[in-house]
Amino acid sequence: MDLQAKRDFGSFHASNVEELLSISEQEYVPPEIPFSLPFSNYSFQGLNHVYFGKKSKEMFFLLEENCCFLNHGAFGGALKQALDTVHMWQRYTESQPLRFFDRQLLPLLVHVSRRLAAFVGCDPKDLVLVNNATFATNSVLSSFPFAPKDVILTFNITYGAVKKHVQYICSKTGAQNREAVIQFPVHDKQQVLDVLEKELSRGDIKLVIIDHIPSNTPVIMPVEDMIQICRQRGAKVLIDGAHALGALDLQLTKMDPDYYVSNAHKWLCSPKGVGFLYVKRELQSGIRPAVISHGFGSGFCSEFVWSGLHDYSSMLSLHTVLDFWLVLGPDRIRDYMYKTARAGAELLANSWSSQFAAPLEMFGTMALVELPATVMSEHETVDYNAAESIQNILYHDYNIEVPIKSVQGHLYVRISAHIYNEVSDYQKLAQAILSIAQKKYLKYHKSL
Ligand SMILES: Cc1ncc(COP(=O)(O)O)c(C=O)c1O
Repeated sequence: MDLQAKRDFGSFHASNVEELLSISEQEYVPPEIPFSLPFSNYSFQGLNHVYFGKKSKEMFFLLEENCCFLNHGAFGGALKQALDTVHMWQRYTESQPLRFFDRQLLPLLVHVSRRLAAFVGCDPKDLVLVNNATFATNSVLSSFPFAPKDVILTFNITYGAVKKHVQYICSKTGAQNREAVIQFPVHDKQQVLDVLEKELSRGDIKLVIIDHIPSNTPVIMPVEDMIQICRQRGAKVLIDGAHALGALDLQLTKMDPDYYVSNAHKWLCSPKGVGFLYVKRELQSGIRPAVISHGFGSGFCSEFVWSGLHDYSSMLSLHTVLDFWLVLGPDRIRDYMYKTARAGAELLANSWSSQFAAPLEMFGTMALVELPATVMSEHETVDYNAAESIQNILYHDYNIEVPIKSVQGHLYVRISAHIYNEVSDYQKLAQAILSIAQKKYLKYHKSL
């Protein structure tokens, strides 16, 4: 082991992270886990009896039974067995804090990192664990060597907090932000590619930020094609895949983005505080973590592995989350989520005689369906306030948790579908919106 790397971590016993990540899969010996984990004893047959829908809500989640929860996309929903694992790690940590942090933590983090890298199809040396997508995006944006007049291309659908950070970076470096507009409803992927081509042809773009699945308008972006187009024009690409891990079959080496960030605490259902950053090998030396600590100067993965003393239990609980996905089958889980989201979206559009914000095949675990015009009384304007008010009525009067979005002068509902949802959930939503429309109609006409 490289003695200097040990000293870099300020400890006699810290392991060399880069070295542990370089060991081949055949030769790698994982560290021992000091207790038995949920799911690790299940055989594939053992969970064959698991049905998706209401049964799995009770079996795997802590979600309230009576709440019609159609907003997994916002803050996810952690597997209860993974929360148990978090608690086990917390108790174990405190049983001998020195042993845990000084001797055991880094190899344990490398182990989950290696497993996650295998899950998303990349080399473990190209991926680092972070607390969330925000940390990862901050790290890339604040490391990127922007010069005055360089252009950062974002879209109208870019995540709000990222737009703000881009503004901040521009104010610090003299770079400029250009925002491309995607019009809704989207007709096909070519429409998106044309917008990108047109912007890139204007020149000076150094970095393009693409939301793989935008938060407000969850159309799956054709990122593979977009990466190729950017590369041909010499622009680097940062993909914000906060919603992608679990929702899509990620194969990062094949996709080959420059930078990719994602969250495990959304669709993968990990406890809060777990995400990752992928950086293409030749760009890694230019990226610093948003928080600099002991690993500085010891290599990409070492720099990110320790961001000061905090609770690393959620990261370590990824074992349970990945066991869950592998035992139940990622394709089977995604197939259920997609079919349920699409069936739900069709049910809503049929009940309200309304349209989708994009062709159904461009959606995955979420979909955006326009609300019927009747849900607005004649004197109301379609805006953020109207969206908020309908969302609040659904929450307070119907116990339905679902976001309403105001997009380019139209109101949409953004539905989510995870394994605990069933088509009957969307039936409830369809009825609730019709009854809100009916009540508004009656109230308006009584007041005349
Ligand atoms: C597209 C997108 N990017 C980034 C984020 C930020 O994620 P986090 O708060 O976990 O950092 C979100 C959260 O919803 C998101 O939807």
